[in-house]
Amino acid sequence: MRILILGGSTEASVLARTLAGDPRFLPILSLAGRTAAPVLPPVAVRIGGFGGVAGLAEWLRAERIAAVVNATHPFAARISDNAVAAAGITATPLLRVLRPAWTPTAGDAWQEVPDMAAAARALGPVPRRVLLTVGRQDLAPFAAAPQHFYLVRSVDPPPAETLPPRAQVIAARGPFAEAAERTLLRDHAIGVLVTKNAGGSATRGKLDAARAGGVKVVMVARPPPAAGATVADTAGAMEWLDHLHGAWRGV
Ligand SMILES: NC(=O)c1ccc[n+]([C@@H]2O[C@H](COP(=O)([O-])OP(=O)(O)OC[C@H]3O[C@@H](n4cnc5c(N)ncnc54)[C@H](OP(=O)(O)O)[C@@H]3O)[C@@H](O)[C@H]2O)c1
Repeated sequence: MRILILGGSTEASVLARTLAGDPRFLPILSLAGRTAAPVLPPVAVRIGGFGGVAGLAEWLRAERIAAVVNATHPFAARISDNAVAAAGITATPLLRVLRPAWTPTAGDAWQEVPDMAAAARALGPVPRRVLLTVGRQDLAPFAAAPQHFYLVRSVDPPPAETLPPRAQVIAARGPFAEAAERTLLRDHAIGVLVTKNAGGSATRGKLDAARAGGVKVVMVARPPPAAGATVADTAGAMEWLDHLHGAWRGV
């Protein structure tokens, strides 16, 4: 079975590796091409956009894809909606792998906001020292709050013109352990952490470190999830693929 995995997440890479070792499946991993040097699993990989819904539908037909697993990041809303539409047009089974969102625990000081502009406003008028871990595509709203110092962490360094005026960049790829996150917060005298509600364990250490260090967290809520069948992890995706393969073999 030829399986398209929409990737750019840990789950997508794990699933690709798992399917690569399973003779029933032929996985093709698709990446948007945002990261300069992605860590690639040993499967067929394609990189770059499909050209909207029509392009994706055409690609699914041309490549005789039997099923799509959308394992993109929880904030990748456009490709997720496109996948729903293209799967509908081509009658291709589609599954969303969506890890659970983080929820605050006792001692957490979170302010939840609906979007990045609200996150920038939530920092307030008084200058703060901010750790910004929202990815390099989402920095623009913070230019409207230039009174703060920003420590910007992203996989690839953002272009200089997209940075707020008082910014320092750390280019680093997770996972990030809590102990190292505590050190980072302390060494840079960080007072506020701004993050997307990505969920998962790879980057959760910063939240535990913030709680321990009394650092306020501005938590950007997820976009609404795309429609359709959804599982929380790669184990759920494997179960879905097992069933699908059984039905597919019987055709
Ligand atoms: N958003 C985040 O915070 C975040 C964080 C970590 C990783 N990522 C990963 O980075 C990628 C881009 O995220 P985004 O939020 O910019 O996506 P997006 O807004 O949902 O998608 C924008 C466009 O990028 C292309 N695209 C996105 N994911 C793709 C994929 N896996 N394969 C091929 N084309 C893809 C599509 O172009 P066409 O319309 O031309 O097909 C899509 O319309 C995703 O793969 C996501 O998993 C995102």
